[in-house]
Amino acid sequence: MQIKSFAEYEETYRFSVEWPEKFWAGIAEEFLWRKKWDKVLSWNFSEPNIKWFEGAKLNITENCLDRHLAKNGDKPAIIWESNDPDKSSITLTYKVLHEQVCRFANVLKKNGVVKGDRICIYMPMVPELAVAVLACARIGAVHSVIFGGFSAKSIADRINDSACKLVITADGSFRGNKQIQLKEVIDDALIGCPTVEKVIVLTHTRTPVSMLKGRDLWFEDEIKQVDTDCPAEEMDAEDMLFILYTSGSTGKPKGVVHTVGGYMVYAGYTFTNAFNYQPDEVFFCTADIGWITGHSYIVYGPLSQGATTLMFEGVPTHPTPSRLWEIIEKHKVNILYTAPTAIRSLMSYGTDPLKGKDLSTLRVLGSVGEPINEEAWHWFDEEVGHKNCPIVDTWWQTETGGLMISPIAFVTPLKPACATLPLPGIQPILVDEQGNEIEGNGVNGNLCIKFPWPGMLRTTYGDHERCKQTYFSTYPDLYFTGDGCMRDEDGYYKITGRVDDVINVSGHRIGTAEVENAINMHAGVVESAVVGYPHEIKGQGIFAFIIYPKLHNESDLTKKDILQTVTRVIGAIAKPDKIVFVSGLPKTRSGKIMRRILRKIAEGETTNLGDTSTLLDPAVVEEIIVAAKQL
Ligand code: WT7
Repeated sequence: MQIKSFAEYEETYRFSVEWPEKFWAGIAEEFLWRKKWDKVLSWNFSEPNIKWFEGAKLNITENCLDRHLAKNGDKPAIIWESNDPDKSSITLTYKVLHEQVCRFANVLKKNGVVKGDRICIYMPMVPELAVAVLACARIGAVHSVIFGGFSAKSIADRINDSACKLVITADGSFRGNKQIQLKEVIDDALIGCPTVEKVIVLTHTRTPVSMLKGRDLWFEDEIKQVDTDCPAEEMDAEDMLFILYTSGSTGKPKGVVHTVGGYMVYAGYTFTNAFNYQPDEVFFCTADIGWITGHSYIVYGPLSQGATTLMFEGVPTHPTPSRLWEIIEKHKVNILYTAPTAIRSLMSYGTDPLKGKDLSTLRVLGSVGEPINEEAWHWFDEEVGHKNCPIVDTWWQTETGGLMISPIAFVTPLKPACATLPLPGIQPILVDEQGNEIEGNGVNGNLCIKFPWPGMLRTTYGDHERCKQTYFSTYPDLYFTGDGCMRDEDGYYKITGRVDDVINVSGHRIGTAEVENAINMHAGVVESAVVGYPHEIKGQGIFAFIIYPKLHNESDLTKKDILQTVTRVIGAIAKPDKIVFVSGLPKTRSGKIMRRILRKIAEGETTNLGDTSTLLDPAVVEEIIVAAKQL
């Protein structure tokens, strides 16, 4: 199923649009099914109701593990690299990974987990995290992985939203020179989570933890009490595989739901094609499994294809800015998939950290998470790829399950900092504000997708109406991505960034409303408005305008207090980079905050603020400009 030439891509693409069901059935044939589908696709975008491979039976872990055992049992499935460069790496062959997954799946069963139960996973980037994820899938439990940087409150909200029965965590995690006491955070979260019956705790950092009688169990004790025989649960293609919470422009994060069959086919197909993965290569995705990139391109995509996936616990610049290059040299990495923010951060150290590092094994480079700027693209191309490695700038989302608009390595002619063309099966369209299709090339619009693909979200957990409202109602019969996009003269797509109130900080998606709600929880705050602004390393930074009437020369301390509040409510990833205290916010007569003006001010613009005639009180703008300048 690997596309070899641009002509073949064009032909495949045409076929996939004309005969989508035949196309996807052909791809699905290459996976292991206990029973094939009765119907490839039924759909409408109005409810929405999307079903792929209806009637088919399978288990994704048989595709990720069992089916590789006969031929590739001794091949490395996961290579793990510790945060600490002096600690030895760990290799799990397919055989060993299969054993560990089966064993841990039996632990889950022993603790009462059955098909359909939701399991929260809050763990460091260690092999046991991948094991836990796959063990859930083995027995048909639905995993909800939460990134290790979220606060107790965020975790509690997510656990309660999907009524998780069990939590898998660890004593703590290492990331660079930071340690997070994961178990402590879970203990705080669980005060408000009545549905959780058991907590399984992995020993990792060896920090003291409190173990609650009857609820908390040690991972190490549990696995001793079960064997490694665990037949995979037979799943319907449309059974739920996982929930992953993501931020939007309004309200609390929503649980994006992916189902077994379509997600598997899509993650596997896109992995093999876009990255041109070859047998025996080492694939290194630097994301965390707490995000969709880790789900699809550390775990399910690579393992479904029998690949070797490298999992790194730490951060690229710790303990030195050479760390990432050392890992590539040490494990002879062939494909490196990372984010623009990481590239820019590495770039800021110059080329010294690269000197003497053997990167000659690298064959393909990938970028994801945010628009990549040309400077970073060229640096990646020249200094890392030595102009020998295609860069695949992959545009996609938590909701899409896998890559959507992306070059296919060695196939698609590249353009710097451009996601290029849709993958086979993906039908993007650009629309104007009214939802009219913008045809032709050399145009800009809002990016929508007009036909289903197997990896797309099916619903938002517990609230189907919200799924409909968020993605399928802005423009009737279209999936709206929330992104702006240009289609250039050659028909290439270049993503320009979010057009809604979502900001992208270091490739992490953060809703401005969420940050505002968190800030507003601080006792002295009357109101706040949050916007994104260009940030050299993070892509976007968070700029908060806050009304805080009783500020008495203590503004630095108050700022720190507010950062604390945000850290408590959401997590450190949502902390504003800049805060200004103001006496009012620019509002229309109907009381709507004019974010457009705040965005301009946050960008440093002081004169061209656009139309301000609808403002209730134009004077407030002057005050804000002055306050912002003083930062
Ligand atoms: C948003 C999705 C799925 C990848 C990890 C982020 C932005 C993602 C690109 C890219 C420009 C990109 C979009 C998208 N984005 N990749 N290659 N070029 N923008 O997943 O948290 O669901 O965020 O990230 O704005 O909507 P996510």
